[in-house]
Amino acid sequence: DAGKITDGFGRRFHYLRLSVTEVCNFSCTYCLPNGWKKTGPLSFLTVDEIGRLVAGFSDLGLSKVRLTGGEPTVRKDFNAIIQTVASAPGVAKVAMTTNGWNLARHATDWRASGLSHINVSIDSIDPQTFHEITGHDKLNQVLAGLDLALAAGYSAVKVNAVLLRETAEAGFDGWARFVRDRPVAVRFIELMKTTDNDAYFARHHVKAQGLRDWLDQNGWTPSERAFDAGPALEYRHPDHTGAIGLIAPYAPGFCDSCNRLRVTARGKLRLCLFGDGGVDLRDLLQDDDDREALTQRIMSSLGGKSAGHNLALGRSGDLRNLAQLGG
Ligand code: GTP
Ligand code: 5AD
Ligand code: SF4
Repeated sequence: DAGKITDGFGRRFHYLRLSVTEVCNFSCTYCLPNGWKKTGPLSFLTVDEIGRLVAGFSDLGLSKVRLTGGEPTVRKDFNAIIQTVASAPGVAKVAMTTNGWNLARHATDWRASGLSHINVSIDSIDPQTFHEITGHDKLNQVLAGLDLALAAGYSAVKVNAVLLRETAEAGFDGWARFVRDRPVAVRFIELMKTTDNDAYFARHHVKAQGLRDWLDQNGWTPSERAFDAGPALEYRHPDHTGAIGLIAPYAPGFCDSCNRLRVTARGKLRLCLFGDGGVDLRDLLQDDDDREALTQRIMSSLGGKSAGHNLALGRSGDLRNLAQLGG
C-alpha cells in the first residue's frame, strides 16, 4: 500500500477523478436540462498538462485515474489522454465515466490505448424514458456500445442509473433481468442536490431504502468493497452474472471511506465533490521541472479536506451541476 496521500482522518487517496472537459452532448434532466452552454473561454487541460499532473500524483502513490467530464469522449484528443495517463508509473487502472454515445465506435481502440474500466450512464432501459431523461433517442446506440465494450476485454464495465422516483423504481425487475447474463454491475445513484437542480430534486429525489428493501426481498446479498473502489455498495445473487449496487451519498458514514481526490478540467484540485473553489495547480503544470513543487502543493492542500461533505449539512458548495466537475 504505497499511497502517500493521506488526510487527518486516516483516509488514503489512491484514486484521482480527473475531469477533462465541461462540455457534454446530452441534456439529462437532473444535470444539464437545457444542454451545455458555453459561458466563457474553453481552456481545458492539454494532454501535456495532464501528463505532468498525473506524473505528480503518481509520485504520491496514485494507482487509479478515472477520466470524467462533462462527457470526456467529446475531446478529439481523448485517445492521447488515455495513452498519457496509462503510461504514468504506478497507474494500474485507467477508468472513465461516459454517457456511452461514442462507445460503439471506439471501445476497441480505447482499450488498446490503455483504458481498463468503463462506467456507462444508462438511467433507463426503456427507450422512451431514456429519451425523456437524456434528451436523446440513443438507447440502442448506447446499449450496442456497452455490449461491444463487454466484448473488448475491459477489466470491468459498469452502469450508472440515477435513482428517480418514477422511473428507476419501476425498473428494478427489468435491470435484474438485464444483469442475469451480463457481467455488469448496475449501480443506482441517489439523486444529489446541486445549486441548479433544487426544484427537480424536490420532485424526484428518493432515498435508496426502497432499493435496499427490494434487494433483500429478492435474494441479493451485499459483497465486499475493494480498497480502491468508488462509493458503491454492490449486491450479488446466485442466479445472476452481474451485480446491482447502490450509491447513497446522504447515508450516514458515506464519507468515511472516501479515497478519492478530484481535479477539474481547468486544473483545480477539489478535495470534495461538494466543496468550494479548489486549489489551482495549473501554474505548476507548464514545466516538467515543477514536479516537486506540484507534489508539495497537493500534499499541503489536504489539510483542508473535511471529514464529511457539506451535502449532509444541507449545503452543496458551489457546484451547479455534476457536468462541471464530473461527479
Ligand atoms: P468505480 O471506480 O467503478 O467504483 O466508480 P465510481 O462509482 O467511483 O465512479 P462513477 O464516475 O461511475 O460515479 C458514480 C456516481 O457516484 C456518480 O454519480 C458520482 O457523482 C458519485 N460519486 C463518486 N464519488 C463520489 C463522492 O466522493 N461523493 C459523492 N457524493 N458522490 C460520488
Ligand atoms: N445526482 C446523482 N447523480 C448524478 N449524475 C449526474 N448528475 C447527478 C446528480 N445530480 C450522474 C450521471 C453519471 C454520473 C457521473 O453522475 O448520471 O452517471
Ligand atoms: Fe452529460 Fe452526464 Fe450531465 Fe447527462 S449526467 S448531461 S451525460 S454530464
